Amino acid sequence: MKKDSRRLLEWYERNKRSLPWRNQKDAYRIWVSEIMLQQTRVETVLNYYERFLDRFPSVESLAAADPDEVRAAWSGLGYYRRARFMLEAAKAVVSEHAGEFPNTLLGLRALPGFGRYTAGAVASIAFDLPAPAVDGNAARVITRWRGIREDPSRGEGERVVWAEAERLAKAGPAAEITQALIELGATVCLPRNPSCTRCPWRSSCVAHRDQLISLIPAKKKRAPKKTVELTALVVLDERDRVLLLEQPDSGLFGGLYTPPLLEGHLSPRRSRSTARNELGLELGELAPGGQLRHILTHRELELHLFRTRLVGRAPAGLRPVSLGRLHELGIPTITSRVLEQALPEAMIEGLVLPSRRSAALATRRRSS
Ligand code: ADE
Repeated sequence: MKKDSRRLLEWYERNKRSLPWRNQKDAYRIWVSEIMLQQTRVETVLNYYERFLDRFPSVESLAAADPDEVRAAWSGLGYYRRARFMLEAAKAVVSEHAGEFPNTLLGLRALPGFGRYTAGAVASIAFDLPAPAVDGNAARVITRWRGIREDPSRGEGERVVWAEAERLAKAGPAAEITQALIELGATVCLPRNPSCTRCPWRSSCVAHRDQLISLIPAKKKRAPKKTVELTALVVLDERDRVLLLEQPDSGLFGGLYTPPLLEGHLSPRRSRSTARNELGLELGELAPGGQLRHILTHRELELHLFRTRLVGRAPAGLRPVSLGRLHELGIPTITSRVLEQALPEAMIEGLVLPSRRSAALATRRRSS
């Protein structure tokens, strides 16, 4: 264990990538990076991290932020729930802890959105507490190294993996151990075709010795994705503003602005009556706007689009937004995809929409 720990730390010191959240101890900045990095690749996070911190340089500035601005800064990163929890946690840090992040694992765990991983990551990286933090990368490294055959995301497999990470963190230094495990998983101990010749743990790795790399970590048993059919209404008012609905916190796209989404594949007539009954929305002629398949982590959405005009006034709860100001609101990718599909090209030409921005970034990355 001691030898492995030393080898890992030496490897990390020599091979770590230079990333903007490294080599500093500011709990706020470390926390922002750890939240962004959950479910999102480093390359994508690099396009957001500094911009987010320029806009919200301190936990106080985030706590005081307008939710629309946070949405806009997050737009395109996905899993917006993370940002909503961040806003809540920032408020709690300011109001309950005088603007200082608690420097204990228990104190951190009590903050909104601080699960075991986030609390462990901030505790170890920012405060050097001997706390483990196991993400998917670290779990892959540890299960292979120790030859753990159980699924590390649940039950006994999870317990054993966290216990191993805790032993490593306790031997310390925890800040480097946490990041070294993640870095090894992200750059060497890859899911497929890992570069074992470059690995500091090659000589002690059970999966390498027993040729079990392709079997460890055990695959998660995922339930097949459910397909959900929805009818999306792209409604323009007399000034060509589009009507958007702030989705309820608990549902799909919670807290984000989307066009009105009705359950099921509805006919124009049913769409009109449902819009009237559920949203108080009076619609003109409904023109077909095509179909769209949108894939989320646990669901596949099949959207049937209609383009239409508002009759009368917009009901409370629906917000008319000029197309040129959509980017200020921080709309999710689903919203821009629906608008791009249903509206004439002339109306959306030149707009900065999340799906277009991702495409532009991807192109830029390929050509650089
Ligand atoms: N993924 C999660 N945390 C990370 C970190 N601190 N550096 C790089 N990738 C990460």
